[in-house]
Amino acid sequence: MILIVDFGSQYTEVLHRVVRETGIKVQVALPDEVNNFQTLSNANIRGVILSGGPHSVYGVGAPTLDKQFLDGRFPVLGICYGMQLMAHLLGGRVSRGHQAEYGPAKLNMSSRNANLVPDELLQEHVWMSHGDHVDALPEGFDCIAKTSDNLNAVIAHKDKKLLGLQFHPEVVHTTRGQSLIRHFVFNICGNEAGQQLQSFKPKAIELLDKQLASLEPNCDVLCALSGGVDSTVAATLLSEQIGQRLQCVFVDTGLLRKNEFNATLALYREKLQLNVHAVNSAELFLQRLQGITDPEQKRKIIGKTFIDVFEAESKKFTRCRALVQGTIASDVIESSHSSAHAQVIKSHHNVGGLPEKMNMSLVEPLRHLFKDEVRALGRELGIPEDFIRRHPFPGPGLALRVLGEITPERLALLREVDAVLIDQLHRDGLYDAVWQAFAVLLPVKSVGVKGDGRSYDSVVALRCVGSKDGMTADWSKLPLEFLATISRRITNEVAGISRVVYDITSKPPATIEWE
Ligand code: XMP
Repeated sequence: MILIVDFGSQYTEVLHRVVRETGIKVQVALPDEVNNFQTLSNANIRGVILSGGPHSVYGVGAPTLDKQFLDGRFPVLGICYGMQLMAHLLGGRVSRGHQAEYGPAKLNMSSRNANLVPDELLQEHVWMSHGDHVDALPEGFDCIAKTSDNLNAVIAHKDKKLLGLQFHPEVVHTTRGQSLIRHFVFNICGNEAGQQLQSFKPKAIELLDKQLASLEPNCDVLCALSGGVDSTVAATLLSEQIGQRLQCVFVDTGLLRKNEFNATLALYREKLQLNVHAVNSAELFLQRLQGITDPEQKRKIIGKTFIDVFEAESKKFTRCRALVQGTIASDVIESSHSSAHAQVIKSHHNVGGLPEKMNMSLVEPLRHLFKDEVRALGRELGIPEDFIRRHPFPGPGLALRVLGEITPERLALLREVDAVLIDQLHRDGLYDAVWQAFAVLLPVKSVGVKGDGRSYDSVVALRCVGSKDGMTADWSKLPLEFLATISRRITNEVAGISRVVYDITSKPPATIEWE
């Protein structure tokens, strides 16, 4: 078994998945849970991975570890905070974050330790997200590679199997990161290659069965459809298991893309044969969002309005005892339900709140799956490919992309721009080349010149990113001709836009959505 000690990193679930994909048994535990070292040393542990985390090793209440973990009995891989903690506990020095590094970086090799870390696995891009760094190595360690800012990026013990990485090997933007983790699991820890997990359906059904088992037999189950892939996959899975006992409610929040509500409703009813009750609540959402500009407040209002609408609708379904939601692993992580040490980045509206209010149990069969895994499951369930391949869309919808006040006019303006962007991506065969693409209406106006007159109109930002799971992302280097065409089309075809800008920020440090 590989033990992951979770110090609260945003990426622990990603790390968990990457190790799980090797087919080797893996257990995630909090630092307090593993500090009974004697009990643990009797368990069948082949190696330990110390995750990253938001703390500083010198900070008050910073999580720590029994030093015996580092006596060489187990191979240990320390990532980011895990590396800093390893260095700190073994007598090295960690410097507090004066020189932060976020996003992609290239490493410069300074020495070799081919057994612990083959050179070729460090040759391409790695992904940084840290403030602190190790500035004096503990005794017995060598620096294997540095960043271009001359910080220690990879450290390895000369004799023991102790390896520290300042960057995150688990995220997809570290090009050879998965190979590094596989090298640790198989070559350093000496595990045998296991079975790769191929199908996500048995796991999702197993979790679903457990969640359904506690319900009253033969009761109905209510499903909140959002129009996105996650809730559609959850509903289709449920429908396959319990048939007509699944009652779906699809709410028009007025915050979806152009024509999206009707097209999706047709798919639900005609192709997927789901039992769908359509509700138009656009006016209520807009009314409650009137005058609100703060992003967290917007999310909370939308979350609460969903609860209110569902509460009212659920009264019509008197046999329903549970509510299905398409919550996936990254929603859980970013809303900080995963670990006591993680920080809240954004409150995702589809986590928490609903069942307590509605006196219903919660059924979330996709809680352990990432976006790409949810898509694979959707294909297994026969959902059409063009729907599965649609870019992710946030539950709070266009509300997060109309910066500043949300009005029907500003929403309509954004919808037109967004439709042109998506259309041009399809026309140029670029839609599948990006992971997510959308427009953001900024709360500023700028001066333009149209014909011979001065204009003073809105600015839109275009955000196109590459990612695998939404946890890290890089901006898409789309062809300049595409950018030129899209800028020309938007300013010519959409009245009220004077300027188009392109967002060139990675995640981290930015998030994908602007709010
Ligand atoms: P961020 O902006 O956190 O986005 O980098 C990561 C991915 O999650 C989507 N997202 C959300 N999805 N409810 C959702 O269902 C939300 O509140 C929410 N906020 C962001 C975002 O579109 C991206 O794919």
